[in-house]
Amino acid sequence: MSETQKGAARAEETRAEQVPACGRAAELDALADTLFGGHEALEHADEQEHHHHTHAPASHHEHGHHLLQVEDLSVGFRMYDEDAPFFRARQRFVEVISSLTISVHAGEIVAVVGASGSGKTLLADAVLGLFEPNATVRGRIWFDGELQDAAGLAALRGNGVSLVPQSVNNLDPLMKVGRQVEGFAHPDVPHAERRRRRAELFERYGLSEETAQLYPFELSGGMARRVLLCCALMDDPHVIVADEPTPGLDLDLAVRALDDFRAFADAGGGVMLITHDIELALRVADRVAVFKDGTVVEETAVANFASPDTLAHPFSRALWHALPEHGFRDRNVGEGSGKGGFHA
Ligand SMILES: Nc1ncnc2c1ncn2[C@@H]1O[C@H](COP(=O)(O)OP(=O)(O)OP(=O)(O)O)[C@@H](O)[C@H]1O
Ligand SMILES: [Mg+2]
Repeated sequence: MSETQKGAARAEETRAEQVPACGRAAELDALADTLFGGHEALEHADEQEHHHHTHAPASHHEHGHHLLQVEDLSVGFRMYDEDAPFFRARQRFVEVISSLTISVHAGEIVAVVGASGSGKTLLADAVLGLFEPNATVRGRIWFDGELQDAAGLAALRGNGVSLVPQSVNNLDPLMKVGRQVEGFAHPDVPHAERRRRRAELFERYGLSEETAQLYPFELSGGMARRVLLCCALMDDPHVIVADEPTPGLDLDLAVRALDDFRAFADAGGGVMLITHDIELALRVADRVAVFKDGTVVEETAVANFASPDTLAHPFSRALWHALPEHGFRDRNVGEGSGKGGFHA
């Protein structure tokens, strides 16, 4: 065995030692094999405490039905130690999301707010069954009362659950955007109907018909974000996970997008709205999940954001104080959470 092969074998042993249980798809599969006695409370009363929350008294959800339920989710990564000398870098395991529980009911918008770098996009990706190769994912995710494994989540992607991704790089650089958007319709929808729906959405979001003939690199950032919104709204999803859908949009278009999510929820869908724009989110959401250091520290009714006295967690109160209308009184909102500060 050459020195290089020996080194590779040693690295493999180290990996096995330090990350005893990696292989994300396998784990979710294993979890799905385990029956957890069914999904708690598909039907429940409005004031009933379940899954770590009670319902918002004035929320729109129908019959208390859970569309999406994430329980005890953890996401971590195997990484090489950046500070170690190149040839002796050992692998370590960093857990970014830990013991996270969140739910979205039919007819409801849940806003997810928190510091930058705290794992919100990872949550969105996990719900969509999108896992990085170095990720280890544990937890339970139900869609419409059915426990999902990794394959189930992947099958629901674009077929029940739609993502508005945070990065505009999610557009295919080699395909005209009109075709891309039309491609998000259900395969059974006839071509003419797809074009009609795409044109309707483009008009709604101020994209001219000529835009359909452009490639992503020819779009401004705001146009690309509108195209991503159109992609998510093309299909007829049950759940939309919108990861920062509004940056780069002027206020009118941002309001329109959120109003469309509201209309979608009012029609029985569920929306997980990940956003730094708390003020805008409070306009349309039913509940707010406050995210800190990779977990939800408080899930509360929007009405409770009227005053810091009705918020339970100190970080939620810090977010309240950081809202522009409250004079940005707390400058330490991002401290200790994720890499960066909170930028509301
Ligand atoms: N494949 C990966 N390997 C290692 N670390 C990763 C990987 N993907 C994400 N991370 C880390 O996970 C952390 C959470 O990232 P994430 O993008 O989910 O944060 P976020 O809350 O969405 O931030 P923002 O508000 O800026 O969008 C970051 O520190 C990021 O570097
Ligand atoms: Mg993000």
